[in-house]
Amino acid sequence: VRFVEPGEGYLACGWMGAGRLAEPQVIVEAAGRMLQPRGSLSGYRLLVTAGGTVEDLDPVRFIGNRSSGRMGVALAREAQARGAEVILIAARTSVELPHVAEVVRVRSAREMHDAVSARAGAADAVIMAAAVADFTPARGAAAAKIQKSEHGRLTIELEPTTDILAELGRRRGDRPRPILVGFAAQTGEVVEPARRKLLAKRLDLVVANDVLAPGAGFDVETNQVVLVSREATEPLPVMSKAEVAGLVLDRLEDLLAAVPLPAATP
Ligand code: CTP
Repeated sequence: VRFVEPGEGYLACGWMGAGRLAEPQVIVEAAGRMLQPRGSLSGYRLLVTAGGTVEDLDPVRFIGNRSSGRMGVALAREAQARGAEVILIAARTSVELPHVAEVVRVRSAREMHDAVSARAGAADAVIMAAAVADFTPARGAAAAKIQKSEHGRLTIELEPTTDILAELGRRRGDRPRPILVGFAAQTGEVVEPARRKLLAKRLDLVVANDVLAPGAGFDVETNQVVLVSREATEPLPVMSKAEVAGLVLDRLEDLLAAVPLPAATP
């Protein structure tokens, strides 16, 4: 017997909280997971990040980016459909999130770092599809709204954030798990910078694209990527983000199979 936890929201008694019938979609997805045959990623735990992080400047303003979360969400959906236990860590997104094993909402690069670090050790693979801010305000967010009248010209000093993937690569050292997959959003030259990132951050696969190319980038349903691994460079045609997710997971399955014993057994 499997239980679907109660949903949260307005309750018949007038209170807000957990205790109402779960949404039909949640029940259907839970039933689907029970009924599906063992998938090609059954027994594996995957950590997927999605969306763009937000660095607050004051209570009303922030520095963000144009990531919609579509690519990360497509990866989480496809991984779950293949039987993986998926943990989705989502920053700011403009698409609906799938009901996977665990969904963690974060805001800043720091929160993304903490959420990923706490869970990566138990994962077979980490796919960093999120657009994580490289810089954050050095003094943190102002407690009160920054007043225009107090500044003729405003300079905000930014300091680098921790590179989460690079830290995971360092922490993993020579161990085979977790498999580390990064994304490289480029403008212009794609393959060489992606290969540099693969080596510098000690990754297994980089999904690289030119965000300015037609059919690729942030606000579109399609993407055109090059898959860069240690052994191969594989340019792909324009295709839907769901199709890209399928091919990325195919390569991930190859990488997982190369080291036979999964860290998390079914
Ligand atoms: N990333 C990360 N932690 C950060 C920044 C990025 O883990 N603080 C991850 C992203 O999720 C993505 C990859 O690293 O998978 C992107 O690499 P990065 O070198 O940050 O790309 P760019 O920001 O495009 O780098 P550059 O500006 O040097 O091209």
